[in-house]
This record gives sequence, structure tokens and C-alpha cells, in this order.
Amino acid sequence: MLKLVNVNKIYSTLEHTIHVLKNINLSVEEGEFIAIMGPSGSGKSTLLGISAGLDRIDSGLIYIDGQEISLISEDELCSIRAQKIGFIFQNFQLIKTLNALENVCLPLVISSDFKESEIRSKAKLMLEKVSLENRFTHFPSQLSGGEMQRVAIARAFMNNPRILFADEPTGNLDSKNGDTVMKMLSDLNKSTNSILIIVTHDPKIARYADKIYTMRDGELSQGR
Ligand SMILES: Nc1ncnc2c1ncn2[C@@H]1O[C@H](COP(=O)(O)OP(=O)(O)OP(=O)(O)O)[C@@H](O)[C@H]1O
Ligand SMILES: [Mg+2]
Repeated sequence: MLKLVNVNKIYSTLEHTIHVLKNINLSVEEGEFIAIMGPSGSGKSTLLGISAGLDRIDSGLIYIDGQEISLISEDELCSIRAQKIGFIFQNFQLIKTLNALENVCLPLVISSDFKESEIRSKAKLMLEKVSLENRFTHFPSQLSGGEMQRVAIARAFMNNPRILFADEPTGNLDSKNGDTVMKMLSDLNKSTNSILIIVTHDPKIARYADKIYTMRDGELSQGR
């Protein structure tokens, strides 16, 4: 379960203070798929990042499976992320010096006791699922935008996440690959009773979701 209580996030730069998340309250149950929509700059990616423990908040509480994460140490947070969370970034965040297969292996190489050969077979299977069986040894600079996005998706599946955050996961894909990815995401969500949280501008994708939320200027409300 994921729960946010009165969460606030402020970005301060030399010139500006931006109150980017304003008193956010959100509760997502096991097995739920929610879509978050809203204009550019309204705080959607920030909301995903802080919910996944990738960035700290200024006030409020965040619970993952009942454990409050906003005040725990970086080490504890790392282990929760490694065990429970998958994240597909809006800008992919692939490691430039690793090829596609190595990028996908990464979450398990860092955090698990699996043998290298097991990790590589699982990574190959994930890349095959996103139709990249002919791109294992390509580096990110040798991949198209949509291919990088699919590598990022394969990587996010490696630890069988209990909560999968996906920031515009179909933004760079044609409709066929977009449909494949949406099917993978919703299969994982339903077959493992995990949480799926997608940020999207696409009303067609949002329609698959159990609930739709909208961010407007840092405030989150249910509905469109
Ligand atoms: N590290 C940062 N420092 C300062 N301001 C930031 C930082 N990250 C984001 N912002 C600002 O916070 C606001 C929300 O950004 P965010 O990336 O969450 O928007 P978004 O809703 O995901 O937009 P988009 O649909 O374009 O991806 C923006 O105005 C952005 O400029
Ligand atoms: Mg964003």
C-alpha cells in the first residue's frame, strides 16, 4: 500500500521558491492502477519521485506498506527501493556506458543474491518482451527514443516491483509498441496484485486506470 499524508515539497533556487506539491493526500491500495494527468509543470514527476523515495519532502508523511519513509536513512530507503519499487523515468535515465542488456541487469546486480547468469537470462527475457531481442549490445546512444524507453521499461520489471511508477511510459512509442507496453504494465499490475501509477497526457491510457487524478499547480484532485 502507498499512502501520502499532507505532503509538501518546495524547490528553492537563488531566484525562485516553488511550492511544487501542496498538501497532497493520496491512498493507493494493492492491485490498484491509477493515472495522473495534468498540465506540464504542475508537479506530476515530482509527485512520482518523492513517492518512490527518490527525493525528500519538506513536510508530511509517506507510507510504503505501512512503513513511513520520509525520515528513514538513505541506506534503508535504498533497500526498500531495491525490493519493492520499479521506476520508469520520463527521460529514461539509462547508463550511457552500459549496453541495453547491462542496463536491464543493473537493478539485480546491485541488490540481489542471484547468479550473474540468472540475472542475464531474466534481462534477456524482459528485453524480448519489449521486442528488443536484436538490441542487447547497443549502447543508449545507438538506440532510438522509443527503444531507450523500452529498455527502461524492461529494467523496471527486473525486481518484480510491488509498486511501479511510470512517468509517460508511452510518450515516445508508436501505437503498436505503446499498446504492448500498456499490456505489459497492466498484466504485471493485475497478475501480481501490485500498484501501478502512471503519469500520462493520453486520455486513452488513462481510461485503463481504476482511478484518474489530476495535478493542477501542485494540488492533486480525483477525476479529470
Ligand atoms: N530540481 C528542481 N529545482 C527547482 N525547480 C524544479 C526542480 N524540479 C522541478 N522543478 C520545477 O517544479 C515544477 C514541477 O515540475 P515537474 O517536473 O514535477 O512537472 P510535470 O508536471 O512532471 O511536468 P511535465 O508534464 O512537463 O513533465 C516545474 O515548474 C519545474 O520547473
Ligand atoms: Mg514530468
